[in-house]
Amino acid sequence: MTQDVTLLIVDDEPAHAESLARIFEKEGWTSRVAHSGAVALEELRKAPASVVITDLNMPGMNGAELLRAIKAISPETEVVLMTAFGTVETAVAAMKDGAYDFVTKPLKRHAIVKAIRQALEKHTLVAENRSLRARLAGLSAGPSIVGRSPSLRATLDTVRQAALSSATVLLVGETGTGKELFARALHDGSPRVNAPFVAVNCAAIPETILESELFGYERGAFTGAAQRKEGRFERAHGGTLFLDEVAEMSPAVQVKLLRVLQDGEIERLGGTSPVRVDVRIVAATNKDLATRVTEGAFREDLFYRLNVITVQLPPLRDRREDIPLLADHFLKLYTQKNGKTLSGFTRAAVTAMEGHTWPGNVRELEHAVERAVVLSRGAELNLEDLPLAVRAGAAAPSSSVAVDGRSLVVALGTTLEEIELRVIHETLRRTNGDKDLAAQILGISVRTIYRKLAGEDSPLPFAGEG
Ligand SMILES: Nc1ncnc2c1ncn2[C@@H]1O[C@H](COP(=O)(O)OP(=O)(O)OP(=O)(O)O)[C@@H](O)[C@H]1O
Ligand SMILES: [Mg+2]
Repeated sequence: MTQDVTLLIVDDEPAHAESLARIFEKEGWTSRVAHSGAVALEELRKAPASVVITDLNMPGMNGAELLRAIKAISPETEVVLMTAFGTVETAVAAMKDGAYDFVTKPLKRHAIVKAIRQALEKHTLVAENRSLRARLAGLSAGPSIVGRSPSLRATLDTVRQAALSSATVLLVGETGTGKELFARALHDGSPRVNAPFVAVNCAAIPETILESELFGYERGAFTGAAQRKEGRFERAHGGTLFLDEVAEMSPAVQVKLLRVLQDGEIERLGGTSPVRVDVRIVAATNKDLATRVTEGAFREDLFYRLNVITVQLPPLRDRREDIPLLADHFLKLYTQKNGKTLSGFTRAAVTAMEGHTWPGNVRELEHAVERAVVLSRGAELNLEDLPLAVRAGAAAPSSSVAVDGRSLVVALGTTLEEIELRVIHETLRRTNGDKDLAAQILGISVRTIYRKLAGEDSPLPFAGEG
Protein backbone atom coordinates (compact mmCIF):
# COMPACT_ATOMS: atom_id res chain seq x y z
CA MET A 1 0.00 0.00 0.00
CA THR A 2 1.54 3.29 -0.99
CA GLN A 3 -0.85 5.94 0.32
CA ASP A 4 -0.21 8.02 3.42
CA VAL A 5 -1.03 5.66 6.25
CA THR A 6 -0.13 5.88 9.87
CA LEU A 7 -0.55 3.21 12.47
CA LEU A 8 -0.57 3.61 16.20
CA ILE A 9 0.62 0.67 18.28
CA VAL A 10 -0.57 0.59 21.89
CA ASP A 11 1.02 -1.95 24.21
CA ASP A 12 2.27 -1.67 27.78
CA GLU A 13 5.14 -4.04 27.01
CA PRO A 14 7.75 -2.06 25.09
CA ALA A 15 9.35 -5.16 23.55
CA HIS A 16 6.04 -6.24 21.99
CA ALA A 17 5.40 -2.79 20.61
CA GLU A 18 8.89 -2.63 19.11
CA SER A 19 8.60 -5.97 17.34
CA LEU A 20 5.24 -4.94 15.85
CA ALA A 21 6.76 -1.67 14.65
CA ARG A 22 9.51 -3.65 12.87
CA ILE A 23 6.95 -5.91 11.16
CA PHE A 24 4.98 -2.90 9.96
CA GLU A 25 8.11 -1.17 8.73
CA LYS A 26 8.82 -4.11 6.44
CA GLU A 27 5.33 -3.67 4.97
CA GLY A 28 6.12 -0.04 4.27
CA TRP A 29 3.78 1.32 6.95
CA THR A 30 4.73 4.15 9.26
CA SER A 31 3.86 3.56 12.89
CA ARG A 32 3.95 5.33 16.21
CA VAL A 33 4.05 3.68 19.62
CA ALA A 34 2.21 4.44 22.87
CA HIS A 35 2.66 2.46 26.07
CA SER A 36 -0.72 3.25 27.63
CA GLY A 37 -4.26 4.15 26.63
CA ALA A 38 -3.87 7.69 27.94
CA VAL A 39 -0.71 8.27 25.92
CA ALA A 40 -2.45 6.80 22.86
CA LEU A 41 -5.20 9.40 23.14
CA GLU A 42 -2.56 12.12 23.49
CA GLU A 43 -0.92 10.85 20.29
CA LEU A 44 -4.23 10.87 18.44
CA ARG A 45 -4.84 14.42 19.54
CA LYS A 46 -1.53 15.43 18.01
CA ALA A 47 -2.17 13.64 14.71
CA PRO A 48 -4.80 11.19 13.54
CA ALA A 49 -4.02 7.56 12.73
CA SER A 50 -5.60 5.37 10.07
CA VAL A 51 -5.52 2.28 12.26
CA VAL A 52 -4.82 1.74 15.98
CA ILE A 53 -3.67 -1.69 17.10
CA THR A 54 -4.01 -2.08 20.83
CA ASP A 55 -3.49 -4.66 23.51
CA LEU A 56 -6.70 -5.46 25.35
CA ASN A 57 -5.18 -6.05 28.80
CA MET A 58 -3.30 -3.00 29.99
CA PRO A 59 -3.04 -1.35 33.39
CA GLY A 60 -4.99 1.89 33.63
CA MET A 61 -7.19 2.40 30.60
CA ASN A 62 -7.69 -1.02 29.01
CA GLY A 63 -8.10 -1.72 25.30
CA ALA A 64 -11.90 -1.80 25.37
CA GLU A 65 -12.04 1.61 27.08
CA LEU A 66 -9.50 3.00 24.67
CA LEU A 67 -11.62 1.72 21.76
CA ARG A 68 -14.68 3.59 23.01
CA ALA A 69 -12.65 6.77 23.51
CA ILE A 70 -11.21 6.52 19.99
CA LYS A 71 -14.62 5.96 18.44
CA ALA A 72 -15.86 9.06 20.26
CA ILE A 73 -13.10 11.43 19.20
CA SER A 74 -12.07 9.99 15.85
CA PRO A 75 -14.75 7.65 14.44
CA GLU A 76 -12.92 7.16 11.16
CA THR A 77 -9.94 5.50 12.86
CA GLU A 78 -10.12 1.69 12.66
CA VAL A 79 -9.14 -0.30 15.74
CA VAL A 80 -7.65 -3.81 15.86
CA LEU A 81 -7.38 -5.54 19.25
CA MET A 82 -4.74 -7.97 20.47
CA THR A 83 -5.96 -10.48 22.98
CA ALA A 84 -4.87 -13.56 24.87
CA PHE A 85 -6.94 -16.72 24.43
CA GLY A 86 -8.71 -16.24 27.75
CA THR A 87 -10.13 -12.88 26.76
CA VAL A 88 -11.47 -13.66 23.30
CA GLU A 89 -15.00 -13.06 24.55
CA THR A 90 -14.10 -9.56 25.63
CA ALA A 91 -12.66 -8.99 22.18
CA VAL A 92 -15.85 -10.19 20.53
CA ALA A 93 -17.86 -7.84 22.72
CA ALA A 94 -15.52 -5.02 21.65
CA MET A 95 -16.43 -5.69 18.02
CA LYS A 96 -19.91 -4.46 18.91
CA ASP A 97 -18.32 -1.23 20.13
CA GLY A 98 -16.84 -0.71 16.70
CA ALA A 99 -13.52 -2.60 16.72
CA TYR A 100 -12.61 -3.69 13.19
CA ASP A 101 -11.00 -7.00 14.11
CA PHE A 102 -8.99 -8.83 16.76
CA VAL A 103 -5.94 -11.04 16.68
CA THR A 104 -5.02 -13.58 19.33
CA LYS A 105 -1.71 -13.95 21.11
CA PRO A 106 0.81 -15.32 20.57
CA LEU A 107 0.78 -13.16 17.47
CA LYS A 108 1.44 -14.68 14.08
CA ARG A 109 3.06 -12.37 11.64
CA HIS A 110 0.83 -13.13 8.63
CA ALA A 111 -2.36 -12.89 10.71
CA ILE A 112 -1.50 -9.48 12.08
CA VAL A 113 -0.39 -8.14 8.69
CA LYS A 114 -3.59 -9.39 7.08
CA ALA A 115 -5.79 -7.80 9.76
CA ILE A 116 -4.01 -4.46 9.50
CA ARG A 117 -4.06 -4.50 5.69
CA GLN A 118 -7.83 -5.06 5.67
CA ALA A 119 -8.39 -2.38 8.30
CA LEU A 120 -6.35 0.05 6.20
CA GLU A 121 -8.39 -0.82 3.11
CA LYS A 122 -11.60 -0.16 4.95
CA HIS A 123 -10.25 3.14 6.24
CA THR A 124 -9.38 4.22 2.70
CA LEU A 125 -12.77 3.15 1.31
CA VAL A 126 -14.67 5.04 3.98
CA ALA A 127 -12.60 8.18 3.36
CA GLU A 128 -13.12 7.96 -0.41
CA ASN A 129 -16.80 7.34 0.00
CA ARG A 130 -17.14 10.33 2.28
CA SER A 131 -15.36 12.71 -0.06
CA LEU A 132 -17.46 11.45 -2.98
CA ARG A 133 -20.67 12.07 -1.07
CA ALA A 134 -19.40 15.50 -0.09
CA ARG A 135 -18.64 16.33 -3.69
CA LEU A 136 -22.08 15.22 -4.83
CA ALA A 137 -23.75 17.27 -2.11
CA GLY A 138 -21.60 20.26 -3.08
CA LEU A 139 -22.67 19.95 -6.70
CA SER A 140 -26.33 19.80 -5.92
CA ALA A 141 -26.05 22.82 -3.62
CA GLY A 142 -24.21 24.77 -6.33
CA PRO A 143 -27.09 26.39 -8.18
CA SER A 144 -28.31 28.29 -5.12
CA ILE A 145 -25.28 30.56 -5.43
CA VAL A 146 -25.98 32.78 -8.40
CA GLY A 147 -23.43 34.85 -10.30
CA ARG A 148 -20.88 34.55 -13.06
CA SER A 149 -18.71 37.60 -12.51
CA PRO A 150 -15.01 36.73 -12.33
CA SER A 151 -14.78 37.94 -8.73
CA LEU A 152 -17.65 35.72 -7.57
CA ARG A 153 -16.33 32.73 -9.53
CA ALA A 154 -12.90 33.18 -7.92
CA THR A 155 -14.54 33.30 -4.49
CA LEU A 156 -16.47 30.12 -5.24
CA ASP A 157 -13.28 28.36 -6.32
CA THR A 158 -11.58 29.24 -3.04
CA VAL A 159 -14.60 27.98 -1.12
CA ARG A 160 -14.69 24.69 -3.04
CA GLN A 161 -11.03 24.02 -2.28
CA ALA A 162 -11.27 25.11 1.33
CA ALA A 163 -14.31 22.87 1.82
CA LEU A 164 -12.23 19.71 1.49
CA SER A 165 -10.02 20.55 4.46
CA SER A 166 -10.88 21.30 8.05
CA ALA A 167 -8.97 24.58 8.07
CA THR A 168 -10.57 27.58 9.73
CA VAL A 169 -12.12 29.98 7.24
CA LEU A 170 -12.82 33.68 7.71
CA LEU A 171 -15.52 35.14 5.47
CA VAL A 172 -15.21 38.89 5.05
CA GLY A 173 -17.64 41.14 3.26
CA GLU A 174 -20.13 43.95 3.57
CA THR A 175 -23.61 43.28 4.85
CA GLY A 176 -25.75 41.20 2.49
CA THR A 177 -22.90 39.94 0.31
CA GLY A 178 -23.68 36.29 1.11
CA LYS A 179 -21.39 35.38 4.02
CA GLU A 180 -23.92 33.06 5.62
CA LEU A 181 -24.81 31.51 2.26
CA PHE A 182 -21.14 30.77 1.60
CA ALA A 183 -20.63 29.41 5.11
CA ARG A 184 -23.37 26.87 4.44
CA ALA A 185 -21.91 26.07 1.03
CA LEU A 186 -18.56 25.40 2.73
CA HIS A 187 -20.21 22.92 5.05
CA ASP A 188 -22.30 21.29 2.32
CA GLY A 189 -19.26 20.84 0.13
CA SER A 190 -17.15 19.38 2.93
CA PRO A 191 -16.69 15.82 4.20
CA ARG A 192 -18.62 17.02 7.27
CA VAL A 193 -21.84 17.40 5.30
CA ASN A 194 -23.71 14.72 7.23
CA ALA A 195 -22.82 16.21 10.63
CA PRO A 196 -24.46 19.36 12.05
CA PHE A 197 -24.00 22.94 10.83
CA VAL A 198 -24.47 25.12 13.89
CA ALA A 199 -24.68 28.92 13.55
CA VAL A 200 -24.04 31.41 16.35
CA ASN A 201 -24.57 35.13 15.90
CA CYS A 202 -22.07 36.67 18.32
CA ALA A 203 -23.70 40.10 18.05
CA ALA A 204 -27.24 38.89 18.70
CA ILE A 205 -26.50 36.88 21.84
CA PRO A 206 -25.89 38.99 24.97
CA GLU A 207 -22.27 38.90 26.10
CA THR A 208 -23.14 37.31 29.43
CA ILE A 209 -24.89 34.38 27.76
CA LEU A 210 -22.60 33.85 24.78
CA GLU A 211 -20.01 31.98 26.82
CA SER A 212 -22.46 29.42 28.19
CA GLU A 213 -24.13 29.13 24.78
CA LEU A 214 -20.83 28.25 23.15
CA PHE A 215 -19.30 26.04 25.80
CA GLY A 216 -22.28 24.76 27.78
CA TYR A 217 -22.37 24.36 31.53
CA GLU A 218 -22.53 21.78 34.28
CA ARG A 219 -25.42 21.51 36.65
CA GLY A 220 -24.97 24.05 39.44
CA ALA A 221 -22.35 26.08 37.56
CA PHE A 222 -24.32 29.22 38.45
CA THR A 223 -27.66 30.11 39.97
CA GLY A 224 -30.34 28.75 37.69
CA ALA A 225 -28.19 26.08 36.09
CA ALA A 226 -30.52 23.25 37.10
CA GLN A 227 -29.36 20.86 34.38
CA ARG A 228 -26.14 20.26 32.54
CA LYS A 229 -26.39 21.97 29.15
CA GLU A 230 -24.49 21.11 26.03
CA GLY A 231 -22.88 24.11 24.31
CA ARG A 232 -22.96 24.79 20.59
CA PHE A 233 -19.40 23.54 20.22
CA GLU A 234 -20.47 20.12 21.44
CA ARG A 235 -23.58 20.21 19.29
CA ALA A 236 -21.43 20.89 16.24
CA HIS A 237 -19.14 17.92 16.99
CA GLY A 238 -18.01 16.34 13.73
CA GLY A 239 -19.50 19.26 11.79
CA THR A 240 -19.14 23.01 11.33
CA LEU A 241 -19.59 25.88 13.77
CA PHE A 242 -20.43 29.19 12.08
CA LEU A 243 -19.40 32.17 14.23
CA ASP A 244 -21.23 35.09 12.65
CA GLU A 245 -20.30 38.71 13.46
CA VAL A 246 -17.20 37.44 15.20
CA ALA A 247 -15.80 40.97 15.64
CA GLU A 248 -18.42 41.58 18.33
CA MET A 249 -17.06 38.88 20.61
CA SER A 250 -16.00 40.11 24.07
CA PRO A 251 -12.34 39.77 25.16
CA ALA A 252 -13.30 37.08 27.69
CA VAL A 253 -14.93 34.89 25.05
CA GLN A 254 -12.09 35.59 22.62
CA VAL A 255 -9.63 34.00 25.08
CA LYS A 256 -11.78 30.91 25.41
CA LEU A 257 -12.21 30.57 21.67
CA LEU A 258 -8.48 30.84 21.19
CA ARG A 259 -8.01 27.96 23.59
CA VAL A 260 -10.40 25.73 21.68
CA LEU A 261 -8.65 26.51 18.42
CA GLN A 262 -5.29 25.67 19.97
CA ASP A 263 -6.19 22.56 21.94
CA GLY A 264 -9.33 21.21 20.28
CA GLU A 265 -10.90 21.03 23.72
CA ILE A 266 -13.61 22.95 25.48
CA GLU A 267 -14.43 23.28 29.13
CA ARG A 268 -18.03 23.59 30.20
CA LEU A 269 -18.77 26.37 32.70
CA GLY A 270 -18.36 24.86 36.13
CA GLY A 271 -16.74 21.81 34.59
CA THR A 272 -13.55 20.25 35.86
CA SER A 273 -12.29 18.28 32.88
CA PRO A 274 -11.92 19.34 29.26
CA VAL A 275 -14.14 17.86 26.56
CA ARG A 276 -12.62 17.01 23.21
CA VAL A 277 -14.47 18.47 20.21
CA ASP A 278 -13.89 18.02 16.50
CA VAL A 279 -15.36 21.16 14.97
CA ARG A 280 -14.55 23.11 11.84
CA ILE A 281 -14.79 26.84 12.49
CA VAL A 282 -16.11 29.25 9.89
CA ALA A 283 -16.20 32.86 11.07
CA ALA A 284 -17.72 35.89 9.38
CA THR A 285 -17.51 39.62 9.82
CA ASN A 286 -18.42 42.78 7.97
CA LYS A 287 -15.84 44.68 10.03
CA ASP A 288 -12.19 45.16 9.22
CA LEU A 289 -10.71 42.74 11.75
CA ALA A 290 -7.12 43.81 11.12
CA THR A 291 -8.07 47.36 12.12
CA ARG A 292 -9.85 46.02 15.20
CA VAL A 293 -6.59 44.31 16.10
CA THR A 294 -4.59 47.54 15.84
CA GLU A 295 -7.26 49.27 17.93
CA GLY A 296 -6.83 46.59 20.58
CA ALA A 297 -10.46 45.46 20.30
CA PHE A 298 -9.63 42.05 18.86
CA ARG A 299 -6.88 39.67 19.94
CA GLU A 300 -4.10 39.40 17.40
CA ASP A 301 -3.39 35.72 18.15
CA LEU A 302 -7.05 34.87 17.64
CA PHE A 303 -7.14 36.87 14.43
CA TYR A 304 -4.32 34.78 12.98
CA ARG A 305 -5.98 31.57 14.10
CA LEU A 306 -9.25 32.53 12.39
CA ASN A 307 -7.56 33.96 9.35
CA VAL A 308 -6.06 30.71 8.04
CA ILE A 309 -8.08 30.95 4.82
CA THR A 310 -9.77 34.27 4.08
CA VAL A 311 -12.62 34.48 1.63
CA GLN A 312 -13.44 38.01 0.51
CA LEU A 313 -16.99 38.44 -0.72
CA PRO A 314 -17.15 41.18 -3.35
CA PRO A 315 -19.79 43.91 -2.98
CA LEU A 316 -22.54 43.84 -5.58
CA ARG A 317 -21.63 47.24 -7.05
CA ASP A 318 -18.23 45.80 -8.06
CA ARG A 319 -19.81 42.96 -10.05
CA ARG A 320 -22.70 44.58 -11.82
CA GLU A 321 -22.95 41.76 -14.37
CA ASP A 322 -24.42 39.63 -11.57
CA ILE A 323 -27.30 42.05 -10.94
CA PRO A 324 -29.64 40.90 -13.75
CA LEU A 325 -28.89 37.24 -12.97
CA LEU A 326 -29.65 37.67 -9.29
CA ALA A 327 -32.76 39.73 -10.07
CA ASP A 328 -34.07 36.91 -12.31
CA HIS A 329 -33.22 34.35 -9.67
CA PHE A 330 -35.20 36.23 -7.00
CA LEU A 331 -38.03 36.94 -9.43
CA LYS A 332 -38.49 33.19 -10.01
CA LEU A 333 -38.21 32.46 -6.30
CA TYR A 334 -40.79 35.04 -5.21
CA THR A 335 -43.29 34.60 -8.03
CA GLN A 336 -43.37 30.94 -7.06
CA LYS A 337 -43.72 31.70 -3.37
CA ASN A 338 -46.52 34.20 -4.00
CA GLY A 339 -48.31 32.19 -6.69
CA LYS A 340 -47.88 34.99 -9.26
CA THR A 341 -47.01 34.83 -12.94
CA LEU A 342 -44.56 37.47 -14.10
CA SER A 343 -42.57 37.12 -17.29
CA GLY A 344 -39.60 39.31 -16.28
CA PHE A 345 -38.41 42.90 -15.90
CA THR A 346 -38.90 45.86 -18.24
CA ARG A 347 -35.73 47.32 -19.75
CA ALA A 348 -36.09 50.44 -17.59
CA ALA A 349 -36.30 48.35 -14.44
CA VAL A 350 -33.13 46.45 -15.34
CA THR A 351 -31.27 49.67 -16.14
CA ALA A 352 -32.28 51.14 -12.79
CA MET A 353 -31.11 48.05 -10.92
CA GLU A 354 -27.82 48.03 -12.80
CA GLY A 355 -27.27 51.69 -11.94
CA HIS A 356 -28.01 51.45 -8.22
CA THR A 357 -25.12 51.25 -5.71
CA TRP A 358 -26.78 48.54 -3.53
CA PRO A 359 -25.31 49.44 -0.14
CA GLY A 360 -27.24 46.47 1.26
CA ASN A 361 -25.85 44.25 -1.52
CA VAL A 362 -27.61 41.02 -2.51
CA ARG A 363 -29.98 41.17 0.45
CA GLU A 364 -31.15 44.64 -0.61
CA LEU A 365 -31.70 43.37 -4.15
CA GLU A 366 -33.57 40.35 -2.87
CA HIS A 367 -35.88 42.53 -0.76
CA ALA A 368 -36.42 44.97 -3.63
CA VAL A 369 -37.48 42.16 -5.96
CA GLU A 370 -39.62 40.45 -3.34
CA ARG A 371 -41.43 43.69 -2.62
CA ALA A 372 -41.89 44.39 -6.34
CA VAL A 373 -43.35 40.93 -6.94
CA VAL A 374 -45.83 41.38 -4.11
CA LEU A 375 -46.92 44.85 -5.22
CA SER A 376 -46.94 44.40 -9.00
CA ARG A 377 -50.13 44.26 -10.98
CA GLY A 378 -48.72 43.97 -14.51
CA ALA A 379 -47.30 41.06 -16.49
CA GLU A 380 -43.77 42.40 -16.08
CA LEU A 381 -41.98 44.19 -13.25
CA ASN A 382 -41.35 47.78 -14.21
CA LEU A 383 -39.56 50.79 -12.78
CA GLU A 384 -42.51 51.87 -10.64
CA ASP A 385 -42.52 48.56 -8.80
CA LEU A 386 -38.99 49.12 -7.51
CA PRO A 387 -38.15 51.00 -4.28
CA LEU A 388 -37.56 54.73 -4.59
CA ALA A 389 -33.85 54.39 -3.91
CA VAL A 390 -33.41 52.05 -6.86
CA ARG A 391 -35.48 54.28 -9.12
CA ALA A 392 -33.31 57.24 -8.09
CA GLY A 393 -30.33 55.28 -9.36
CA ALA A 394 -31.92 55.13 -12.80
CA ALA A 395 -32.75 58.80 -12.83
CA ALA A 396 -29.32 59.84 -11.68
CA PRO A 397 -27.41 60.55 -14.88
CA SER A 398 -30.07 62.79 -16.39
CA SER A 399 -31.53 64.07 -13.16
CA SER A 400 -31.72 67.64 -12.06
CA VAL A 401 -29.01 66.92 -9.51
CA ALA A 402 -25.54 66.51 -10.96
CA VAL A 403 -22.13 65.89 -9.47
CA ASP A 404 -19.45 68.39 -10.35
CA GLY A 405 -16.14 67.45 -8.81
CA ARG A 406 -16.70 67.60 -5.07
CA SER A 407 -19.99 69.55 -5.38
CA LEU A 408 -23.56 68.77 -6.20
CA VAL A 409 -25.30 71.02 -8.71
CA VAL A 410 -29.01 71.19 -8.05
CA ALA A 411 -31.56 72.57 -10.50
CA LEU A 412 -34.27 74.66 -8.87
CA GLY A 413 -37.53 72.78 -8.80
CA THR A 414 -35.90 69.53 -7.68
CA THR A 415 -37.71 67.85 -4.80
CA LEU A 416 -35.92 67.75 -1.45
CA GLU A 417 -36.43 64.02 -1.42
CA GLU A 418 -34.50 63.63 -4.64
CA ILE A 419 -31.70 65.88 -3.41
CA GLU A 420 -31.41 63.89 -0.20
CA LEU A 421 -31.24 60.63 -2.07
CA ARG A 422 -28.58 61.89 -4.45
CA VAL A 423 -26.46 63.16 -1.57
CA ILE A 424 -26.78 59.85 0.23
CA HIS A 425 -25.92 57.85 -2.89
CA GLU A 426 -22.97 60.04 -3.76
CA THR A 427 -21.64 59.84 -0.19
CA LEU A 428 -22.00 56.05 -0.18
CA ARG A 429 -20.24 55.87 -3.52
CA ARG A 430 -17.32 57.86 -2.10
CA THR A 431 -17.14 55.78 1.10
CA ASN A 432 -17.20 52.61 -1.00
CA GLY A 433 -20.52 51.65 0.51
CA ASP A 434 -19.38 52.04 4.12
CA LYS A 435 -22.68 53.12 5.63
CA ASP A 436 -21.26 53.82 9.09
CA LEU A 437 -18.83 56.30 7.61
CA ALA A 438 -21.47 57.77 5.31
CA ALA A 439 -23.80 58.28 8.28
CA GLN A 440 -21.05 60.10 10.15
CA ILE A 441 -20.33 62.37 7.19
CA LEU A 442 -24.01 63.13 6.71
CA GLY A 443 -24.66 63.61 10.43
CA ILE A 444 -27.49 61.09 10.51
CA SER A 445 -27.88 57.54 11.82
CA VAL A 446 -27.34 54.44 9.74
CA ARG A 447 -30.97 53.58 10.33
CA THR A 448 -32.00 56.89 8.76
CA ILE A 449 -29.92 56.08 5.70
CA TYR A 450 -31.74 52.81 5.28
CA ARG A 451 -35.10 54.46 5.80
CA LYS A 452 -34.42 57.15 3.22
CA LEU A 453 -33.05 54.66 0.71
CA ALA A 454 -35.99 52.36 1.17
CA GLY A 455 -38.48 55.16 0.62
CA GLU A 456 -41.25 56.07 3.07
CA ASP A 457 -43.66 53.63 1.48
CA SER A 458 -41.66 50.45 1.84
CA PRO A 459 -40.60 48.39 4.85
CA LEU A 460 -37.07 48.56 6.19
CA PRO A 461 -35.06 46.38 3.85
CA PHE A 462 -32.62 45.31 6.51
CA ALA A 463 -34.62 44.65 9.61
CA GLY A 464 -32.45 44.73 12.69
CA GLU A 465 -29.66 46.68 11.07
CA GLY A 466 -28.29 50.07 11.99
N1 LIG B 1 -24.62 34.82 -4.92
C1 LIG B 1 -25.84 34.70 -4.39
N2 LIG B 1 -26.78 33.97 -5.04
C2 LIG B 1 -28.01 33.83 -4.51
N3 LIG B 1 -28.42 34.39 -3.38
C3 LIG B 1 -27.53 35.13 -2.69
C4 LIG B 1 -26.19 35.33 -3.16
N4 LIG B 1 -25.54 36.09 -2.26
C5 LIG B 1 -26.41 36.37 -1.28
N5 LIG B 1 -27.62 35.79 -1.52
C6 LIG B 1 -28.81 35.91 -0.69
O1 LIG B 1 -28.82 37.21 -0.13
C7 LIG B 1 -29.27 37.20 1.22
C8 LIG B 1 -28.22 37.77 2.13
O2 LIG B 1 -27.11 36.89 2.17
P1 LIG B 1 -26.40 36.52 3.56
O3 LIG B 1 -27.40 36.48 4.65
O4 LIG B 1 -25.58 35.33 3.32
O5 LIG B 1 -25.49 37.83 3.73
P2 LIG B 1 -24.43 38.21 4.86
O6 LIG B 1 -23.17 38.54 4.18
O7 LIG B 1 -24.41 37.14 5.89
O8 LIG B 1 -25.04 39.56 5.45
P3 LIG B 1 -24.90 40.21 6.94
O9 LIG B 1 -23.48 40.66 7.12
O10 LIG B 1 -25.83 41.36 6.92
O11 LIG B 1 -25.31 39.14 7.90
C9 LIG B 1 -29.62 35.76 1.55
O12 LIG B 1 -31.00 35.56 1.36
C10 LIG B 1 -28.81 34.98 0.52
O13 LIG B 1 -29.43 33.75 0.23
MG1 LIG C 1 -25.05 37.17 7.90
